[in-house]
Amino acid sequence: MFPARVSSLRVSGIRKLFESAPPGAINLGLGEPDIQPPQEMIEAFKRALDEGHNKYGPSAGIMDLREAIAAHLRKYRRDVSFENVIVTAGATEGMRIACETILGDGDEALVPNPGFIIYGPDVSLAGGKPVEYSLRQENGFLPDLEEIKSLITPRTKAIIVNSPSNPTGVVFPKEMVKSLSDIARDHKLYILSDEVYENYVYEGEHWCFARFHNDTIVVNSFSKSLAATGWRIGYVATSKEIVEQLSKVQYYTLACPATATQYAIVEGLNVLDKFQAGVLEEFRTRKDIAIQRMREIPSFSVPHVTGAFYLFPKFQQKIPSDRLALKILESGVICAAGSAFGSLGEGHLRFSYANSRENIIRGLDIVREVVAGL
Ligand SMILES: Cc1ncc(COP(=O)(O)O)c(C=O)c1O
Repeated sequence: MFPARVSSLRVSGIRKLFESAPPGAINLGLGEPDIQPPQEMIEAFKRALDEGHNKYGPSAGIMDLREAIAAHLRKYRRDVSFENVIVTAGATEGMRIACETILGDGDEALVPNPGFIIYGPDVSLAGGKPVEYSLRQENGFLPDLEEIKSLITPRTKAIIVNSPSNPTGVVFPKEMVKSLSDIARDHKLYILSDEVYENYVYEGEHWCFARFHNDTIVVNSFSKSLAATGWRIGYVATSKEIVEQLSKVQYYTLACPATATQYAIVEGLNVLDKFQAGVLEEFRTRKDIAIQRMREIPSFSVPHVTGAFYLFPKFQQKIPSDRLALKILESGVICAAGSAFGSLGEGHLRFSYANSRENIIRGLDIVREVVAGL
């Protein structure tokens, strides 16, 4: 017998689907850029190995990288220093240790529905209770502020937010970031902000929650911004006091983040702007192609997207999203069922456009045929 906090964890619906994909399937389910990281960063990794950076490093990450991340964050807040930053093994581990660090037994954290799949389990594994707030297409997939206020109880400790959002592709505008920050301040709550799609913004700009609320814990990573999902390097940025606590938890979780990889990411940050400019231009084109193609599917309503690399259309057919995703998979296209992201994701599918223009077109043509045949 395993404890309920472990046995109740569900295997990710997205992964399950990928594993049953037929050979040669077109992957519009990808949660990662299909391109390789900057060559300068790959060279820096090889150099770091040759220079002997093959040993344990500090629990909070190497100083060069903490400083470089702090410099990157100073575009949002001028008072950020290395002491506000801990390097993690991606945002996944960052979110996990952040929940572990701030939540006591029975503390509540508000989590988005639909939302990225890790938040609820992270809260539960830390002994807390996830309480869902809704993101509805009719509200532009933005939180309903009255609902958020109504969900706050004396046990609420944090609001978990994700902008630009997976799976909705929506970037929170400044007013929303400010309003949520005001609510958090009034109720003395942390904002736990997953900003991994920070660099994928097609309209408006990315508003970091730390600009508006001091008790913000920013979780971020280089998985998407430097196309390095397999490198497993990210960070958490917050107050010096919380970083000190996080470092202890990280020591008992990971000992330290991988050393040579961190040296390479320092080089990656030097070329981030140039690299991202090229990626963003290509992804903008892919987004426009995908939206145009998807609008030709009569029963799909395609929301306006402003960031990340996902489309989250609503479909009219009375069929569960996991069954529809399976039918599409059997015809050779991988996408994710909306229900994998929470109960309010039902009736939606999630498509990623982190694939070639040609594959997006071919894939969505297949989807149109499957839907027409239902
Ligand atoms: C919103 C969101 N947060 C976090 C992650 C995990 O990122 P990392 O690779 O840094 O662990 C993902 C990955 O898809 C994501 O979409």
